[in-house]
Amino acid sequence: MNRKGIILAGGEGSRLYPLTKDTSKQLLPIYNKPMIYYPLSLLMLGGINEFLIITTPRDSESFRSLLGNGEQWNISISYEQQSEPKGIAESLLIGEKWLNDSHSALILGDNFFFGHGLPELLRSSFLSKEGSTIFLHKVADPERYGVAKFDKNNQIIAIEEKPKEVFSNWAVTGLYCYDKNAPAYAKDLSPSERGELEITDLNNIYLSRGELKTEFLGQGFTWLDMGTHDSLLEVSNFVKIVEQRQGIRIADLDDLKMQD
Ligand code: G1P
Repeated sequence: MNRKGIILAGGEGSRLYPLTKDTSKQLLPIYNKPMIYYPLSLLMLGGINEFLIITTPRDSESFRSLLGNGEQWNISISYEQQSEPKGIAESLLIGEKWLNDSHSALILGDNFFFGHGLPELLRSSFLSKEGSTIFLHKVADPERYGVAKFDKNNQIIAIEEKPKEVFSNWAVTGLYCYDKNAPAYAKDLSPSERGELEITDLNNIYLSRGELKTEFLGQGFTWLDMGTHDSLLEVSNFVKIVEQRQGIRIADLDDLKMQD
């Protein structure tokens, strides 16, 4: 597949202090695996086998020592660094050379997805040749996220980052599928009020060009971000319950390699 995966695992994780004072959030345990295993395995289930992991300079060595170059799982892993938390869209600029005109799937290293049929859904989205795809999920607290706005015919008309007034409960999850133009579009972005290159601004560029597709992850899917103490526990419990009840392993990279 001519689509490469970028996992953004930078950031200070300041909401998790002191847990993240000396280590990366995306290396913290989620039940029985480091957090990064979950987004990495998700993209593998979607058929991707070339990865760029973007970390802080401080944590780069720890990720390399955990994951290496990926050959143990029949994948390739490269590394880049984001020196300051300057936004999700910056990862496309950091990864531009490595992407080398490939399409990409970008996932946030603290996002957890689970649901029946997800691999098939990803595989078909990842095969599309033009434009971008965002994945929406209903949440009770949309003000924390990028949120999609729809017209009367349920067509998406805008995405707003952390809206103050609620106009829809469809949050934009931290998984994005882009064509090869994403780094070029990202160069046109200016930092937002919080000093970041916003992924929402990039998605709005695709939308204004008529090149943004939406996938609705309905009730059968679980999406959680693992950025707070409570969510670390919640996702850990979720994984424990599913694994113990069903006797399966979620995000088991060795297992995924066997299925290859
Ligand atoms: C970021 C994005 C937001 C998206 C969210 C998903 O938010 O800016 O659009 O809904 O990730 O986790 P942040 O984590 O920067 O607050």
